[in-house]
Amino acid sequence: ATSETFYDLVGGEQTFRQIVARFYAEVAKDELLRPLYPEEDLGPAEERLRLFLMQYWGGPHTYSEQRGHPRLRMRHAPFKIGPFERDAWLRCMRIAVDEADLQEEQRDRLWQYLEMAAHSLMNSWD
Ligand code: HEM
Repeated sequence: ATSETFYDLVGGEQTFRQIVARFYAEVAKDELLRPLYPEEDLGPAEERLRLFLMQYWGGPHTYSEQRGHPRLRMRHAPFKIGPFERDAWLRCMRIAVDEADLQEEQRDRLWQYLEMAAHSLMNSWD
């Protein structure tokens, strides 16, 4: 259907579940990123990112029902995000996106967004 969203096109919740779980498995091993996460359990952070991405791409709006307006710049303000943190985040996400079974066009579209978003959330230049 013409109204099919990107969320539907890539396979819905299970695709986002897989990508975000793979991403956090990398974050858990990353010496620069892991200490930024305030909670010992990365599970809740994983759920928030999964629900946000699902909503962003046209899936259910559970993220905003639970968390309100995303305000991602504000929510990242407590964490120093310089070029190294940004690159580490993108490195983890690259692995996760590459392992997902996406068509090239969809992979590129998703990646372009994630790269742009990671740059836009920087709040430090060292
Ligand atoms: C939350 C780090 C980029 C989406 C967080 C948290 C940290 C963090 C430490 C708190 C964990 C928690 O939720 O308890 C970073 C770093 C980034 C980055 C170092 C590197 C640039 C991004 C990008 C997106 C994103 C590009 C979206 C495309 C989110 C969301 C939350 C979050 C949705 C949860 C917000 C909430 O509802 O509280 N991030 N992040 N982050 N991040 Fe990032």
